[in-house]
Amino acid sequence: MTSRELEGRTALVTGGTRGIGRATAHRLARAGATVLLTGRDEQQAQQAARDLEARYGTPASGLGLDMTDTGSADALMERVAEEHPDLDILVANAGIMGVGLLGSIPAQDVRSVVEVNVLGTFAVLQGAARIMIPRRRGAIVLLTSLVAAHGVPGMASYAAAKGAIAALTLSAAEELSPQGIRVNAVAPGTIETEMLAPYPRAILDETAARTPLGRLGTPEDVAGAVAFLVGDEASFITGHVLAVDGGLLP
Ligand SMILES: NC(=O)c1ccc[n+]([C@@H]2O[C@H](COP(=O)([O-])OP(=O)(O)OC[C@H]3O[C@@H](n4cnc5c(N)ncnc54)[C@H](OP(=O)(O)O)[C@@H]3O)[C@@H](O)[C@H]2O)c1
Repeated sequence: MTSRELEGRTALVTGGTRGIGRATAHRLARAGATVLLTGRDEQQAQQAARDLEARYGTPASGLGLDMTDTGSADALMERVAEEHPDLDILVANAGIMGVGLLGSIPAQDVRSVVEVNVLGTFAVLQGAARIMIPRRRGAIVLLTSLVAAHGVPGMASYAAAKGAIAALTLSAAEELSPQGIRVNAVAPGTIETEMLAPYPRAILDETAARTPLGRLGTPEDVAGAVAFLVGDEASFITGHVLAVDGGLLP
């Protein structure tokens, strides 16, 4: 990607206040994009947007989104349609992890994981499609996971949700690509963010040791892949799930 390749484009990054979403918001702003980022706390999102503006000199806005309520995603996308009808890029990043063995995970936890990761992402994707279809242009990246394709004990609810996102990527790409909108996904392996908080350091060190590239991923590793997929160098790529996992097979 050239240094200011995304100048003149507007990108929405959900969950842009920390972790992979934050790194992606920075990466896209560095490439010149106007970045709209969301957080559950709108004020925190606005502060993150001000940081982007100060650092890269590109316009940015912080918006509220809580995907435990699909109404919140619908409201967000109506607001984006009204205020940014030129939306070019969606990175549907916001998500939560679900941990628990099949025999003991409470049904409510499963429901939350599906509500946030699947229904929330679906609503944001639908809203973006409604904005992009009339313009016949756009690039969308969804966040799935290594566990969707390989399975990990204790992560069934999360794997089911992220598997849904991988499937959604393929169908959305089939439907939207003829309308000029590319849809891809990234499937991160183990990336050092707050999402890994439930795991003891020894387990993470063991995962790093098993990873062919010899380390865990960073949010910036994933942000680079996302920036590639939304940029012009990926202009003939759609319906693809790109692993960003250091070569790890669980
Ligand atoms: N880290 C990994 O190893 C890994 C691996 C594979 C896939 N992923 C995926 O990558 C994406 C980002 O993960 P991460 O590691 O950066 O996680 P993270 O550091 O925990 O950040 C999660 C982001 O999602 C937002 N979020 C959480 N619950 C939300 C809700 N109910 N409504 C709206 N936003 C919500 C958070 O917003 P707030 O700041 O407002 O809480 C935050 O910005 C997720 O989809 C995750 O499943 C991560």
